[in-house]
Amino acid sequence: MHAFIRDLPKAELHLHIEGTLEPELMFELARRNNIDLPYKSVLEVKEAYNFEDLQSFLDIYYQGSQVLQKEVDFYDLTWAYLQKAASQNVRHTEIFFDPQSHTDRGIAFETAYQGIYQALQDGKSKLGISSQLILSFLRHLSAEEALATLEQALPYKDSIVAVGLDSAEQGNPPSKFKEVFDRAQAEGFLTVAHAGEEGPPEYIWEAINLLEVSRIDHGVRSMEDPELLQYLAEKQIPLTVCPLSNVKLKVFDSMAKHNLKKLLNSGICATVNSDDPSYFGGYIAENYQAAQEALDLSQQELYQLAKNSFQATFLSPESQQKLIAELDNYCQVLS
Ligand code: ADE
Ligand code: ZN
Repeated sequence: MHAFIRDLPKAELHLHIEGTLEPELMFELARRNNIDLPYKSVLEVKEAYNFEDLQSFLDIYYQGSQVLQKEVDFYDLTWAYLQKAASQNVRHTEIFFDPQSHTDRGIAFETAYQGIYQALQDGKSKLGISSQLILSFLRHLSAEEALATLEQALPYKDSIVAVGLDSAEQGNPPSKFKEVFDRAQAEGFLTVAHAGEEGPPEYIWEAINLLEVSRIDHGVRSMEDPELLQYLAEKQIPLTVCPLSNVKLKVFDSMAKHNLKKLLNSGICATVNSDDPSYFGGYIAENYQAAQEALDLSQQELYQLAKNSFQATFLSPESQQKLIAELDNYCQVLS
């Protein structure tokens, strides 16, 4: 991998912590917790990671999450991600967690939250990575279930910056969750939503107009609606794009067909992220690298993507500026 990309200071804004579960850790946690896995080896796990679409991935992803049982398991998962992120000079990360995929199996909300939160604290003190946490609702479940999850999160609202929406997009439009998001906003949460990954541009409009999101996760299908594209550029509503994910889940036939470069060059605040790195073949630097090679991104475009990543964070303008100054310094020293 290019040292320039690896060491580029960057923020990661679209990362499902459950999607960082590497097969080796999956086996270790299964052993610790006496859980039978449907795989015999790491190789067999990796061979199962061939997806037709989002749903075929989600089935395997939720199954993998079942090895997460105790607070320490969530800690170990998060700590492993943070170490990887540090090795790729991620300076700030805003990570999703899916409490419903744990509470539905009888694991307490607090167990998942505490393990993840403790690791994030250690990430700050030991690795110098700042972070924020985003609670994501599973959109294939009901709005009532999302509301119950929001209630469980209220005692921790000072350390959860936003709520989001993930899981099966088609047939589960943002409008289904309008009341939940209204309530979340009234409680002080910011909002984001996966939209326009597999779903149509109308879902992106709904996320903007009904859920009042600060960012769109994925959003690559905005390209089909020129008015939407113009709106996103004008309002600088960031897109958290995940190139390797999009190719693995067949949103694009190949990386060469990915529209990241077109989005960036239409003036959109596009960012590069890893989504579920252990399932899609790479962490954030591998995503930058794969996009750079296939789309022939210049150093200026890589710089812009990293700058966008800081501008799209939920950090204060002062904190954003500090990180951008670090990025500017890195690029100046090299040029
Ligand atoms: N959950 C984890 N990764 C996801 C993705 N790419 N889209 C929707 N839900 C997800
Ligand atoms: Zn995602």
